Amino acid sequence: MKTVKLAVLGGGSSYLPELLDGVIKKWDQGEFHAESIALVDVPEGKERMETVAAFSRRMMAKRGMPCRLETFLDRREAFDGASFVISQIRVGGMKARWNDEHVPLRHGVIGQETTGPGGFANALRTIPVSLDIARDVLDICPDAWLLNFSNPSGLVTEALVRHSGVKTFGLCNVPIGIKMGVAKALSVDPSRVSMDVSGLNHLSFVTGLYLDGNDVFDRLLESPVLAAFLQAMKFPPEFGRYLRYLRLIPASYLYYYWFTDRVLKSQLEDVQKGTGTRADEVMRVEKELFKEYEKPDLADLPSDLKKRGGAFYSDVALAAVSAILRNSPVEEALNVQNRGAVPGLEPDVVVEVSCMVDGRGPQPLSQKRLPTEVLGLVRQVKGYEILTVKAAVEGDAEAAFFALLNHPLVPGADAALAILKDILETNREHLPQFKGKRI
Ligand code: G6P
Repeated sequence: MKTVKLAVLGGGSSYLPELLDGVIKKWDQGEFHAESIALVDVPEGKERMETVAAFSRRMMAKRGMPCRLETFLDRREAFDGASFVISQIRVGGMKARWNDEHVPLRHGVIGQETTGPGGFANALRTIPVSLDIARDVLDICPDAWLLNFSNPSGLVTEALVRHSGVKTFGLCNVPIGIKMGVAKALSVDPSRVSMDVSGLNHLSFVTGLYLDGNDVFDRLLESPVLAAFLQAMKFPPEFGRYLRYLRLIPASYLYYYWFTDRVLKSQLEDVQKGTGTRADEVMRVEKELFKEYEKPDLADLPSDLKKRGGAFYSDVALAAVSAILRNSPVEEALNVQNRGAVPGLEPDVVVEVSCMVDGRGPQPLSQKRLPTEVLGLVRQVKGYEILTVKAAVEGDAEAAFFALLNHPLVPGADAALAILKDILETNREHLPQFKGKRI
């Protein structure tokens, strides 16, 4: 069995045990052995990282996997000898996410950590740090793959592909969530299900579904499974006929674009009645999770972890790691440079697309053209993303303004300007690239 060293940035994340659980499974199944794991976090995350590390060691000991798991505050030390670097950072921590969700709401726009102005603010903070990380990877372990989970995942990957030269791809758990849902509905092992996925991260569409290679899309769209999907995506049941018309299953994040008024209304109500936003909820969940992780006899994943939104995220990452290490092809949806796979988008932009992953890394698979009904939205959001990357990298205030103005959820120039000022002010300590810039 191949042995490997993994480095994980954001080592104090409450998600980390799920990743470790996946690593143990890969060893158990004889796919690869992570004999060394280096967790990295910022000083403010050290205590959480140590808690998560101790719990992870107990998990590995219980299941008998030998591994040297160490913690680091200096990522360059951690990168020494690593073949895969997994980045799952949150620049500014939960407080910053809280702002990302609350600032847009002050301007009558939905608050979400990856979609809309919240995702934009997140990108401005995260892209420069991610590019620094990429530079260190190239310096210390230049042959390593950088797997990006840091949100907004597609946008950060766009920046890495455009500006770093590191071997990289971006991950998301939304497509695998759909695949798992289909497998469950059909009562089959997920390995028998495959999908055609194309679009952008959190704006992708399943355009084909196969069971053992046979097309089952129409069968599923006509079956009660569709109702279950609609419910999971929070779409109204009567919306099923439109999905049948489009012959698409959208990523659940389409909810924000297609049901904007409903989202805004419910978010504002939640803030008003004191429930707060998802960040408030996640902070409550994390408090409980860390109480669990601290229990000295806990050596299995606590069920509360299911209250976080990233289910199956480790499966996506570790299937790719395994495919690369063993040069054993596996198909999954990842964020990579388009290279013509998604018609209607430029070849050099990053897309979320079905890929074949093998020893060379992910190769995007050619997709059919998305229908006009959704391609316009995808293209517009890609325009917003390109401008956001430019703004984040260069501290370009004009690009930042036009990025927001191009976002479909921002209602015009006055709102774009007001939101931009608020974001730059609220995030000042994390946005040195905008210091002294006139808005
Ligand atoms: C989904 C998205 C991720 C996001 C997560 C949020 O899985 O694909 O991009 O990070 O949800 O979950 P949370 O528990 O943090 O709200």
